[in-house]
Amino acid sequence: MSSYHEPVMGREVLELLGPTGSGFYLDGTLGGGGHTRMILEACQDCRVLAVDRDPEAIHEARTALAPLRSRVRFLSGRFQDAPADPEVRDRGLDGALLDLGVSSHQLDDDARGFAFRRGVALDMRMNGAEGPDARRFLAEASEERLAQVFRDFGEEPRARRLAREVVKRRATEPMETSDTLVAALSVSLGRSPSAQDKARIFQAVRIAVNEEMEALDVGLPAIRDALCDGAVMVVIAYHSLEDRAVKNAFREWSRSCVCPPEVPLCTCRGRALGETLTRKVLRPADDEVERNPRARSARLRAWRRAA
Ligand SMILES: C[S@@+](CC[C@H](N)C(=O)[O-])C[C@H]1O[C@@H](n2cnc3c(N)ncnc32)[C@H](O)[C@@H]1O
Repeated sequence: MSSYHEPVMGREVLELLGPTGSGFYLDGTLGGGGHTRMILEACQDCRVLAVDRDPEAIHEARTALAPLRSRVRFLSGRFQDAPADPEVRDRGLDGALLDLGVSSHQLDDDARGFAFRRGVALDMRMNGAEGPDARRFLAEASEERLAQVFRDFGEEPRARRLAREVVKRRATEPMETSDTLVAALSVSLGRSPSAQDKARIFQAVRIAVNEEMEALDVGLPAIRDALCDGAVMVVIAYHSLEDRAVKNAFREWSRSCVCPPEVPLCTCRGRALGETLTRKVLRPADDEVERNPRARSARLRAWRRAA
């Protein structure tokens, strides 16, 4: 999540991405445009393909970035589809950034239905009005799926109990608003939930509704293949599961031999696809977290494609 004014770990992103010359960079999660602006201001002739699946984010960033307009191309869509863009296919990317999750703008707007504030109609779709929303997910998902989502994406120890409570409740009352989900959570916890309890469960539903893990599974290798030789991919994650997916992907791509263990002799010719630049995950500095509390859970990793 980013503040609209200060992009999360902006200094680290610039250092690792190193935008220069007339490079062509992907910002796959444009949001308020903070990172895109930093990239464009770091080099005079470079350009950014700025992608967001939220048409509202594109609309607002277009205005915010108007003075830099000639060097940005906005694309309303998913970052996992950006590698299929004709210019990306023809030219390749000189660097790519993913700053995952939701923007503070999305979270703060009750009409978008992400928040656990009272009376908010549940929605949580990042792409506006396309596809099933949170209400439909809570109404239709099986008890097993709900339990898996609460456990895996929400790290909820009482995931089964909460799933059972949602299924019981939805038989008599539609899961329309934040209040119904919070009420189910209260019953499963046996106490009134803290802000952190609510945040974890609402985050879990959001990750499921927007298929965020699937986006990473498809998007990471697709963007890797679109990078020019020596180009860097930077990913900022806010959830341990996402961070693990990024870490494992980067580790896998940095191995020099990718033959399956049962193959006695290396047949892959043992050349790593690239190298991980962040041996240890990077976290925001204390003063950044003080200025922008939403940076608190950020974890940044970077990988460079072999030259
Ligand atoms: C944390 S915000 C990005 C903030 C941005 N870096 C800035 O400086 O303002 C994440 C943004 O990514 C978008 N997003 C999330 N998943 C996406 C996906 N698969 N494809 C495209 N955009 C996505 C969200 O709609 C949201 O606007």
